Amino acid sequence: MEICLISLPFGHVFSVGSLGKKGTCQTVEHVHVSNCNFKGADNGMRIKTWPGGCGYARNIKFEHIVLTNTKNPIIIDQDYENVQNEDKKQTSEVQISGVTYRYVNGTCNSETAIILNCGAGAGCTDIFMDLVNITSTSSGSNVLASCNNAHGVAASTSPPVSCLSL
Ligand SMILES: *[C@@H]1O[C@H](CO)[C@@H](O)[C@H](O)[C@H]1NC(C)=O
Ligand SMILES: *[C@@H]1O[C@H](CO)[C@@H](O)[C@H](O)[C@H]1NC(C)=O
Repeated sequence: MEICLISLPFGHVFSVGSLGKKGTCQTVEHVHVSNCNFKGADNGMRIKTWPGGCGYARNIKFEHIVLTNTKNPIIIDQDYENVQNEDKKQTSEVQISGVTYRYVNGTCNSETAIILNCGAGAGCTDIFMDLVNITSTSSGSNVLASCNNAHGVAASTSPPVSCLSL
């Protein structure tokens, strides 16, 4: 599947999900997103899943992406709207694996350019990042990456994604 510039509700330019809503099982795989320009979006490359769901999202590749003034350029969120989830003890989750981000340039208007917030169950595995360069829209400010339970390799990235581990 080749995709570019899909408009989804809620101001997300591209997103995979919401997977696993209300305990359902869903699968998404072999998605290739390339040559996209994201301008002024809240979320750039987003994969979101609901806690308590099941299934998987795997083999998803984002490359040759340019983001301008984006709040969350790269975001994986496995705790999507957990606040609204009645049973917070649910541990099953949609498995995320094999996600590549390559040749990504852009500017971010928040502090955290890269968020890999994966669940404590399966977590996210085989995340690969290379040639990613995201800077702040405000000159002189730095941007950061943050991870929870995210596993993989970040080769050449700015900001550094040292929170990604094997
Ligand atoms: C990223 O920026 C560099 C330097 O400006 C440029 O050479 C490269 O083509 C850009 N990559 C993309 C995918 O736009
Ligand atoms: C990242 O992009 C900024 C802004 O375009 C540029 O100044 C910087 O040299 C780039 N860094 C790398 C490693 O390409």
